[in-house]
Amino acid sequence: MRIDIITVLPEMLNGFINQSILLRAQKNGFAEIYVHNLRDYTEDKHRRVDDYPYGGFAGMVMQCQPIDNCITRLKAERHYDEVIFTSPDGELFNQPMANNLSLCENLIILCGHYKGIDYRIREHLITKEISIGDYVLTGGEIAAAAIADAVVRLIPGVIGDDQSALSDSFQDNLLAAPIYTRPADYNGWKVPDILLSGNEAKIKDWELSQSMERTKRLRPDLLDNYHNDE
Ligand code: ADE
Repeated sequence: MRIDIITVLPEMLNGFINQSILLRAQKNGFAEIYVHNLRDYTEDKHRRVDDYPYGGFAGMVMQCQPIDNCITRLKAERHYDEVIFTSPDGELFNQPMANNLSLCENLIILCGHYKGIDYRIREHLITKEISIGDYVLTGGEIAAAAIADAVVRLIPGVIGDDQSALSDSFQDNLLAAPIYTRPADYNGWKVPDILLSGNEAKIKDWELSQSMERTKRLRPDLLDNYHNDE
């Protein structure tokens, strides 16, 4: 999978994508992630990418020209499955959306900034608008990082143990069960006996009942969409 991220703050994303699992995914050939500085695509001699809004509204607006140039240049090289814009008024990001995006070959993610972007970009070039939550960030970079992270870790092989991405919280609309490591007794804080029993069937039952209990208590809304494929 290839992800091209377009931003006015490339340093913010370069730091993030060159760490941990995203770095390993790139080194091992599972993902290519490129960060494009929008200012490299402006035809303005002062490298400006924004201007005042028509109508006398407050704030600055990202102009069509640099964004159009950047996206058009990328599209000339390959087909993109989606051109994503990060925005608080987009569709709420969730695990099924991450699963679908992880099946894509090529994605563009355009990070929003300032007051917004010229609406004509959204009308003519953007195919999907994504919000990562009902709150307003200063820019779309954190959203782009969250989307890239959630999507790349789902590519088979990226996470060492194939099963671990499948047993994540939300993958079947249930929160994950508690998890423990050695020692079995840490200063009197004990690991549940069942996990030390070696009885796989009982452990699986325990895991499901813990998931159910935690979901009912913490995220009852998820149970409306719960599906158990077994
Ligand atoms: N840009 C600003 N706020 C955002 C949000 N909540 N999700 C995605 N992009 C954003």
